[in-house]
Amino acid sequence: MAVFYPHPILDIHLISAKGNTFTDDKNRTYLDFESGIWCANIGHNPESIAKVYASQSQKIIHHHTYFKNNATENLSDQLLAISNFDNGAALFLSSGSEAVLCAITIAKTLLKKAKCVSLEHSYLGAYPTMISNTSEHIQVPFLKCDPNCDGHESWHCEHCAHVPNVLKELHEPFIFILELGTQEHKIIFPARKLIQYIYQKITEYNGLLVCNEITSGIGRTSEWFAFNHYDLKPHLIALGKGLGNGFPISAILMDQRIYSAPDLLNFKYAQSHQNDPLGAEVARSVIDFIIQNDWIAKSKEISHYFINRLTQLIDQYDSFIELRGKGLMLGLVCDKPETAIALQRKLLEHNIFVGCFAMHAIIRFFPPMTITEDEIDTLIDTISLFFTDKK
Ligand SMILES: Cc1ncc(COP(=O)(O)O)c(C=O)c1O
Repeated sequence: MAVFYPHPILDIHLISAKGNTFTDDKNRTYLDFESGIWCANIGHNPESIAKVYASQSQKIIHHHTYFKNNATENLSDQLLAISNFDNGAALFLSSGSEAVLCAITIAKTLLKKAKCVSLEHSYLGAYPTMISNTSEHIQVPFLKCDPNCDGHESWHCEHCAHVPNVLKELHEPFIFILELGTQEHKIIFPARKLIQYIYQKITEYNGLLVCNEITSGIGRTSEWFAFNHYDLKPHLIALGKGLGNGFPISAILMDQRIYSAPDLLNFKYAQSHQNDPLGAEVARSVIDFIIQNDWIAKSKEISHYFINRLTQLIDQYDSFIELRGKGLMLGLVCDKPETAIALQRKLLEHNIFVGCFAMHAIIRFFPPMTITEDEIDTLIDTISLFFTDKK
């Protein structure tokens, strides 16, 4: 019975998950506003994907790294087309942590002496040691851009007090690892101007842009990738989570400059699960499912509805300060950590699971794109109940 849990847990044993819900061993069904852990972007276990598991596992699941398979080649074509990486390539691994680390390592293989730069609290690997500030990796302290920045044409990052000097002082090739939205779960999307400012520097000094789209990709922000909101062309993209919709497959997409670089031939990666056919076939069917059902467009509509309803709550209750995020990557900032913790608990009592990042008093909503207006209404009504009960 001994399972080691290196994270906080609830005493709830799950039996099944379907669509936007999961069910426990006491037959209680919960609405899942976390999509598993931000993975089930198209809802848990759609029928068509379940069929792919069954058929592909009867053909081939895994093989030696010496061999090739059609499933990964088809998935690669599909993802490179979505990301506009003509003549690029894809490598498939298992977890997002691996993908981000591998993407950074590839970038460092090409730009050997370059510094790595990221906004503070970006996710650079599963172990805390990966995210320490070193002379080779600068984690730029960053709070928030002025919310009005993009509306003021004359404002410039070079003269902005919000933009840290370390960014302004970059005058050499550097590798920038961009993680939009999560950054220690704060769900902060910087102003377009700041991201464009960094991007122009990367371009000017012939650096490399690595986009960590593990959480924000595959439709989470109602675009294929969060960087689509900023008009960027990254050199490397790390994908995971929503790619397998819960199945552990991740990817590193590389553009032509990376894939054709002679130094890439020196890159070696020793791991047993590379380009596995089962994960690739599952991911290919996930992408097909999104395209065929037009889920990116549909998620924009449901996101508008959700944002409107959450904004009404902010107008109604003083305990809510601000709504952050894009698409279905949303965070409601509460007045204090205790409010967020109590609200998460209350919602769970009513069979609704939402995320909570207590340190920053944030209630997190990362539901599947398949979430319905009725399900959102149930959430909003239950939140209102929380305040009525308190009176
Ligand atoms: C931005 C980001 N990158 C990488 C990861 C790690 O992905 P995985 O849990 O699949 O290893 C996470 C996990 O939450 C994440 O949020």
